[in-house]
Amino acid sequence: MTYARIAGTGSCLPEKILTNKDLEGMMETSDEWIRERTGIKRRHVAGDDETTSSLSLIAAQRALEMAGVKADELDLIIVGTCTPDKIIPATACIVQRQLGNKGAAAMDVNAACSGFLYGLDLANRYMQTGGARKALVIGAETLSRITNWDDRTTAVLFGDGAGAAVLEASDEPGIRATHIHSNGEFEDLLQTTGGVSLGFDASCDRDKYIKMQGNAVFKRAVATFDSMARETIADLEGHIDDIDWFIPHQANMRIITAAAKKLSMPMERVITTVDEHANTSAASIPLALDQAVREGRIKRGETLLMAAFGAGFTWGSAMLKF
Ligand code: COA
Repeated sequence: MTYARIAGTGSCLPEKILTNKDLEGMMETSDEWIRERTGIKRRHVAGDDETTSSLSLIAAQRALEMAGVKADELDLIIVGTCTPDKIIPATACIVQRQLGNKGAAAMDVNAACSGFLYGLDLANRYMQTGGARKALVIGAETLSRITNWDDRTTAVLFGDGAGAAVLEASDEPGIRATHIHSNGEFEDLLQTTGGVSLGFDASCDRDKYIKMQGNAVFKRAVATFDSMARETIADLEGHIDDIDWFIPHQANMRIITAAAKKLSMPMERVITTVDEHANTSAASIPLALDQAVREGRIKRGETLLMAAFGAGFTWGSAMLKF
């Protein structure tokens, strides 16, 4: 049996930081409201010269360096993003060129906040069936570009960034289970109402930027985190005690706490970065993973459970030995 194992991780955050205090000067909100309702203190926001591909590139280079893998060895590159640089080509192809790789299959996956876990699932299946030996999976976003800064109900929630993982084929696990799902019924609860085919004028059409029915999304997210985590653990006939670290999508501290409680997972074993990064969609899990690895919290041989939930709705989970 061939497994995909994470050989290296990397991440990149834009230099510019927007604190809750900064937002107080931009809209009718308060640091206290944002902290209480979301746990967010600050977020990184891309500058004019930063893009989803430029953040991805740095995250990828750091992950390749940690893995000791050269870019031209990669045979699969997947970027999970809902904020690609361009409509065409795929951001994965832009990153591929900048890395100096030629010939790897390169594609974007839009599964909103579940994008990284969708990418991990795809790469894992490719590697298990011999379709790839070395893969790069990135989650990257510049959500600030589709944030309506006049809408306080969404503007305070999001941030920009990128995280990456280099996967290598191995005889030992590695990724032990992944699950991805979606249900398009809930399109109205979290969406942009403009787009390519529907028409989108990024310079003036703010009304078509991210819109969300926060309360309804909140309830669904909590219920889904619980059921998908259990699905993945049960798949391996395991138990929550087998998990050393839970890395949930970093949307909101209240969602994370509620999900951990339902899973009976103590918060000391939950990686949280939402306070510093806010919700970076597809980037949130690989950013949190890389931060915890580089801080020495997550160590080789430990078992990780990742779970994400996002627009679509999409959701996904992965259990792996790091
Ligand atoms: N600052 C101050 N007040 C705000 C505000 C802000 N940034 N945003 C909303 N409010 C106000 C509302 O207008 C409302 O006022 P009202 O009672 O006078 O009408 C009040 O705060 C409560 O709003 P409500 O939407 O009920 O708050 P909430 O407790 O549901 O929290 C969210 C709002 C967005 C934080 C919460 O619903 C949430 O986290 N949802 C999930 C979001 C998410 O993570 N989505 C991504 C999933 S991938």
